[in-house]
Amino acid sequence: LLLLLRGRNRRDGEPPLVKGWIPFIGKALEFGKDAHKFLEEHKKKFGDVFTVKIAGKYMTFVMDPLLYPSIVKHGKQLDFHEFSNKVAPYTFGYPPVNNQSFPGLRKQVQRSFHLLQGDSLTPLTESMMGNLMLVFRQDHLGQDGGWRSGSMYDFCHSVMFEATLLTMYGRPPAGRRHGGLDALRDDFISFDNKFPLLIAQIPIWLLGRTKAVRDKLIRFFLPVSCWSNMSQFIRRRAEMFEQYDALRDVDKAAHHFAILWASVGNTVPATFWALYHLVSHPAALQAVRQEIQDVLQQDGVGWNRDGDVTLSRQQLERLLYLESAIRESLRLSSASMNIRVAQEDFSLRLDGERSVAVRKGDFIALYPQSMHLDPEVYEEPQTFRFDRYTQDGQQKTDFYKNGQKLRYYLMPFGSGSTKCPGRHFALNEIKQFVSLLLLYFDLQLEDGQPRASLDPSRAGLGILLPNVDVRFRYRLRTQQLD
Ligand code: HEM
Repeated sequence: LLLLLRGRNRRDGEPPLVKGWIPFIGKALEFGKDAHKFLEEHKKKFGDVFTVKIAGKYMTFVMDPLLYPSIVKHGKQLDFHEFSNKVAPYTFGYPPVNNQSFPGLRKQVQRSFHLLQGDSLTPLTESMMGNLMLVFRQDHLGQDGGWRSGSMYDFCHSVMFEATLLTMYGRPPAGRRHGGLDALRDDFISFDNKFPLLIAQIPIWLLGRTKAVRDKLIRFFLPVSCWSNMSQFIRRRAEMFEQYDALRDVDKAAHHFAILWASVGNTVPATFWALYHLVSHPAALQAVRQEIQDVLQQDGVGWNRDGDVTLSRQQLERLLYLESAIRESLRLSSASMNIRVAQEDFSLRLDGERSVAVRKGDFIALYPQSMHLDPEVYEEPQTFRFDRYTQDGQQKTDFYKNGQKLRYYLMPFGSGSTKCPGRHFALNEIKQFVSLLLLYFDLQLEDGQPRASLDPSRAGLGILLPNVDVRFRYRLRTQQLD
């Protein structure tokens, strides 16, 4: 027992080991408070590779981004799915997909992700455009009459949540919009607030009403089979679930709920940050707005505020400044951790000369926020520069550390085989949302607003939320294209 409480000791060839005083918890509390600061301090003390005991797990952090490629390519001995297969079912309430009762389901689930990319991205993007326009027109473009004010995060949440829901899952049999959306969004936000605790596998019965709220969210998807205009992706998944008798209707609905979370949980805060940074930097906003107008004009698309805007997938691809501004916001707000689990004891080769010993079951973690905020990689890393990712009219892709070009320099979407399959769709929908706002509205922060900063409470899990919502003003623009 004493040995268990004290934990293990460092062996020859292993990275420096940091255990902390409290058995089991280890360094979890310090890490949870400010992961970025914690890791930077440990890097100064122990170098680029060190192991920390966090909540009973030994996690080896690889901090030098020049070493990232060797971790990403170690597919065989370092597995991601072992981690996600346990955590996601627990969080969203469906049975693990690699369970023997569901032969082949894991592979089919992985294959379904292709329907978010490639040729399938075109209908998905077109559908999102139509749904964004529907929500904008009905909720925000109706009344003229001067400035209106709103809370920016809430605005982004309500529009993106509904438009994404319609795009992914389609419409109810009667009407173009789902009823009860405000209540659904409230439940979603309440669940989302507990999301970090569920991912940490805190028993759900300790989390107040979370289980009841999650059950309600899951039940929303029970009538999914009678909705129309569903995306190919969700249709394919619904058909695939039908092949498994052992999956109950409520399990299928829980899978749908998980995808709803995946498709808005990070996208909404990412949309907020893109809009917030642009509205806080009027010159950047003007340059991006001009670019959108130029692309429409070059293609001879007349537009005025009484008509609907359509931006095709190809037009969205030409919005380089807008894409750069979104990437820059992702750089400043993303704090996802890339985790792999060692499948055996082995020697992990880091670069030409160096390798470290790793034990079976240990976690290997990359924490790209450290690279995103590294002044050697990004000059003035805390400053928002909307054009940081453009150069000579093209996307800029060369960033350096120690004079060496980085293979991975921006990683909000994870890496390697586990990279987010919705990343292209996410970029497109954020572009569409920002374009519509910039085309239709003049936008300003209300006077005396505190600066929004990052709330670190979901560090390691994706895009961080703002610590406060921000009041802003918007009014229909009078200036328009012919
Ligand atoms: C997985 C980020 C939007 C669907 C992930 C992962 C990250 C991520 C970091 C885990 C990858 C890893 O750990 O290696 C983001 C961000 C988004 C976004 C930052 C928005 C800015 C979306 C959207 C969709 C989506 C819009 C769907 C429409 C998924 C799915 C997975 C995933 C299904 C699980 C993949 C698997 O199990 O292999 N995302 N995501 N994501 N994302 Fe996204």
